[in-house]
Amino acid sequence: MFSNRIEFDLRPNRLAQAVAARRRAGHPIIDLTESNPTRAGFAYPDDLLAPLANPRGLVYAPEPFGSIEARRAVAADYARRGIAVDPQRIVLTASTSEAYSMLFKLVAAPGDEVLVPRPSYPLFELLTTLDGVAARPYDLEYHGIWSIDLASIERAVGPRTRALLVVNPNNPTGSFVSHQEIERLAAICGPRGIALIVDEVFADYELEPDAVDRARVLARRDVLVFGLGGLSKSVGLPQLKLGWIAVTGPDGLVSEAIGRLELICDTYLSVSTPVQLAAAELLDRGAAVRGQIAARVAANYRRLKAVAASAPWSSVLTASAGWYAVLRVPTVRSEEDLVVDLVTAAGVLTHPGYFFDFPHESYLIVSLLPPEETFAAAVERMLDRLEHRVHD
Ligand SMILES: Cc1ncc(COP(=O)(O)O)c(C=O)c1O
Repeated sequence: MFSNRIEFDLRPNRLAQAVAARRRAGHPIIDLTESNPTRAGFAYPDDLLAPLANPRGLVYAPEPFGSIEARRAVAADYARRGIAVDPQRIVLTASTSEAYSMLFKLVAAPGDEVLVPRPSYPLFELLTTLDGVAARPYDLEYHGIWSIDLASIERAVGPRTRALLVVNPNNPTGSFVSHQEIERLAAICGPRGIALIVDEVFADYELEPDAVDRARVLARRDVLVFGLGGLSKSVGLPQLKLGWIAVTGPDGLVSEAIGRLELICDTYLSVSTPVQLAAAELLDRGAAVRGQIAARVAANYRRLKAVAASAPWSSVLTASAGWYAVLRVPTVRSEEDLVVDLVTAAGVLTHPGYFFDFPHESYLIVSLLPPEETFAAAVERMLDRLEHRVHD
């Protein structure tokens, strides 16, 4: 009766079971996997959503890519980041996740392939599979900073490769693609007709002064690029469901892509009118929320590094930007045992590296969003518990 395009294994994993058991027992948990900014104690202005009540929203006048005024507001937000994008080349979507789905429909037929970074955002497996597209991994490697293993791209690329995904900065490694790397990626992708899909949702959240010479991906003219962003991360409002795609690259290819995207977007018309009417003001006033998040994640990252410095068996991997940090710890037990033990015995919930496809153990991924005092307490408890296990 049901499709087998994905494996619907709905059983809770061991970590989820451990969390449920601790909650049932009435013990508190500090959640270092929290990635929902609306639950992390930021001060959102009470009237931030007032523009959603604009009476012009009482009229439905659908446009495949969204209203030009909302697209201009997104272009202005790119300008804030020093990036020039023509509003006519901006496509609104209900989220970044939906943008991926639209783009897979645009560039790939069922069974075609897209190259996906590893380690990276676990949702890619579902996003690709749900659109009938195969995800082929390419590797990022760490040697004090992260870089792309270009040979792994050469190995993964094939006749059915339609797009290469770059998460810039990547989740959870916090790494930007460098100028040198993008030159190589463009040389691999441009001549083969492979598009670059560049997810920049975390670009505003710097953690370390640049470790690499950052690429200006959207300014390229030799390869078709789809830049992705959204309110979810840029102003901490995931519930408003507004994302976007900026289409850049050679003019001919951009026009062709836009023409085809128009039909795809017209089929769904998924972006609500109120959020389009409110976009300019939300992007503008949301800067206050972005500022709080940026200050918080940077402070928590510094704190994590300071605490980890007193535990010489651990190290915090350099992250240039984003909402996450990666802690490397000795492999005294499997990552799964480690995260289950941390939540059960210390009440601290973290994600294991294997959730993000780290190539080997042991890594713990922590969200930098929780309030500073909560984060500091959790990190102390986590490292105490780990110290105990390391010397067991
Ligand atoms: C790399 C990356 N892209 C996209 C998203 C999702 O954004 P949206 O809420 O716009 O779908 C996330 C969410 O965590 C993410 O980590």
